[in-house]
Amino acid sequence: MPPYTDALTRLRDQPTVTLAHLPTPLIQLPRLGAALGTDRLWAKMDAETGFALGGNKVRKLEYALAPAMREGVTCLITAGGPQSNHCRVTAAFAARHGLRCVLVTTRGPDGDPTGNALLHGLFGAEIVAVDERTERAERMDSVAAELRAEGESPLVIPIGASTPLGSLGYARAAIELCEQIDSLGDGCSETLVFSASSSGGTLAGLILGLALLGRGDVRLFGVSADAPAAELDNVCNALAQDAASELLGTSIDPSTVRFASIDAQVGKGYGIPTDASREATELFGHHAGIVLDPTYTSKAAAALIAHVRHLGVQDHQRIVFLHTGGAPGLLA
Ligand SMILES: Cc1ncc(COP(=O)(O)O)c(C=O)c1O
Repeated sequence: MPPYTDALTRLRDQPTVTLAHLPTPLIQLPRLGAALGTDRLWAKMDAETGFALGGNKVRKLEYALAPAMREGVTCLITAGGPQSNHCRVTAAFAARHGLRCVLVTTRGPDGDPTGNALLHGLFGAEIVAVDERTERAERMDSVAAELRAEGESPLVIPIGASTPLGSLGYARAAIELCEQIDSLGDGCSETLVFSASSSGGTLAGLILGLALLGRGDVRLFGVSADAPAAELDNVCNALAQDAASELLGTSIDPSTVRFASIDAQVGKGYGIPTDASREATELFGHHAGIVLDPTYTSKAAAALIAHVRHLGVQDHQRIVFLHTGGAPGLLA
């Protein structure tokens, strides 16, 4: 019996909008594993959540957008970089449901839009460009005020949908993943999960889900796309705790979950590839037919590869790469 039965029931009962094709597959990668020297390498393919080219934002927005459907919202406002995957999925949802969508994005390079920026326009979003990342949150609020004055009923979705509500998508994903690894029957007693991490909602949800299930056999590594590891640890743990107390009526002890952020793959910064992230992209492409993106998943994969090469995979361990999507960024 897991220790948080009531909270798990509340999680299952939370309203969602259905966007994702779930469960996403957990697939073994024998050729890539052989290239790295292990026969216990798996990928949890959240790149294949399906809606509007998939990725991790689809799971988070299933929860974060549920109020928009209940409360007569007419317009969605969110923010991100010019290549934001989160903006892509939000804009696609707005298009599907006939809502207006305003994206506050940091200014991209001159020229025709490519990758996610192209898709933002294709889905009909209005773009408000700002010069600095730090301007985005305030600008979303001023856009909301302007739209209210025009008679719209806007919903502001914080960057990455990394709110307590959005993170529930990854609490549910943790349960899904545990069911899948429990049915593998491969004799392994410990699972090491590597995932990209930035605004923290993905890892916060995983922490929450594992804490509710009491799964000390699953270790989480959140591979930073930008922030220092200590900062990201705090963001993820605090968000997991807030989601538990605000939405599930419980408190969790994040220290019961084996979680650590890694910032060794950031290199020169957000969205700037490194030699290791380029090698990871090539290895996953050549040996698994898997597309990684330059900002998030290639750096998470580089951390996984570094771990396997330097520390090895012990006999009782399996390694899971949580593929959080982002492929349009490779084509930008
Ligand atoms: C493809 C991809 N992977 C990982 C992340 C990181 O997720 P989070 O912002 O929930 O930490 C993002 C978003 O920032 C993303 O777009």
